[in-house]
Amino acid sequence: MENKTILVSGGAGYIGSHTVVELFKAGYQAIIVDDFRASSERMITGVQDLIQTDVKVYRIDICDKDKLEEIFASNKISGIIHFAALKAVGESVEEPLMYYRNNLHGLINMVELADKYGVNNFVFSSSCTVYGEPKGTRKVHEGTPIGHTPSPYGATKQMGERILQDCVNSSKLNLAVLSLRYFNPVGAHPSGLIGELPNGKPNNLMPFVTQTAAGIREKLTVFGNDYNTADGTCIRDFIHVVDLAQAHVSGLEWLSTVEGSNMEFVNLGTGKGTSVLEIINNFEQLTGVKLNWEFGSRREGDLEEIFAETKKAEELLGWKSKLTFKDAIVDAWNWEQKLMNE
Ligand code: UD1
Repeated sequence: MENKTILVSGGAGYIGSHTVVELFKAGYQAIIVDDFRASSERMITGVQDLIQTDVKVYRIDICDKDKLEEIFASNKISGIIHFAALKAVGESVEEPLMYYRNNLHGLINMVELADKYGVNNFVFSSSCTVYGEPKGTRKVHEGTPIGHTPSPYGATKQMGERILQDCVNSSKLNLAVLSLRYFNPVGAHPSGLIGELPNGKPNNLMPFVTQTAAGIREKLTVFGNDYNTADGTCIRDFIHVVDLAQAHVSGLEWLSTVEGSNMEFVNLGTGKGTSVLEIINNFEQLTGVKLNWEFGSRREGDLEEIFAETKKAEELLGWKSKLTFKDAIVDAWNWEQKLMNE
C-alpha cells in the first residue's frame, strides 16, 4: 500500500490539531511532533476522541536535531506539514532572537532531515503577514509583492519562504514545497473537542471575544473606529479553522502530483472581508450573549483592510472555503463553553 504517513510539527497546536483530524479522515496517518510549550495534552485527547485512533506523539523541540532525526530514522515518512513556530507578534518584537532561532533553526532542521531521508513533500505554514502593507490594493493575490513586515515574527515567515525557495532552486535538493499563506484563522471543531487554547491573554480578536463573553476578560477593546471602512473598524478575512485544515489535505494531494522540485505559494482565506464590528454584532446575535466592549485607540501596526484573492487555491488545489465567519463564531463559542464547564 502507498505510504501516506505525514509528520506534523506543531500538531498539538490550534491549526495543527484540526489538520491531523482531517488527515486521518482522508486516509492519511499522522505523526505529531510538538514540544507542548504552546499547547496541551488535551488537544491530543480531543484529536483521538474525534478520530477514534491513537496518534503517535513525540514531545520534542524541533531545534533539537538529534531527537528530530530519531523520528525520521524510525518512521517511514512520506510528507511533512510544518506548523511548529512561535506566532505572537508583540512578543517577537521583545524577543527577536528567540523568534529567529526557533522559527528558522526549526525549519532548517526539518528541511535538512527531509533531504537526508528522501521526504520531498513539504507544506509550510505561512501567513498573509508576508505581504506587509500592500500598496493600493486590499485584496491580495500571490503575486502581490512581498512588503516590509514590521515584526520579527513576520520576518521569520518571509525568511522561511525564502529559505525554502532557495532549497527548491538548488540542484542538490529534490523538494516540492507548498507555502500556505493563512489569513485570519478562527473557530473550532464543531464537535467542541478541539479548538484554540491561547497562552495567557489572547492577542487575536476571536479568542478575546469568547473569553470576554465567558467572563475571563472584563472588556474587549476595539482598536480604532476611524478607519476608512464602512463602519470605521478594520476588515479581515476570517477563515474557519476546519476549512483551513482541509486545505492542507488538498495541498498534500497536489504535492503528490509534482515531479521534481517546485514551490508554490497559496493564499488561504474566504475572499471576503468582515469588519471587527461585524464580528461583535454577529457574536451577540448568534449566541444571545451581550459583550462588554468599547472603542479604544488604534493598535500600532494594524492594517486597515486586507483579504485574500482565492482563485489560485481553487485552481491549483481544488480547495475553496465552505464555512462562514458565522459558523466560526458559533463553533468558537461552543468550544469556549466546553472550557468553562471543565
Ligand atoms: C495577527 C497578526 C498576524 C498573524 C495573525 C494570526 C498583527 C499585527 N498581525 O493578525 O501577523 O498572522 O494575527 O492570526 O498582530 N482587534 C481588536 N481588539 C482585540 C484584538 C484584535 O479590535 O482585542 C482587532 C485588530 O485591531 C484587527 C482585528 O481585530 O483589526 C484582527 O486582529 P487579530 O485577530 O489580532 O489579527 P491580525 O492583526 O489581522
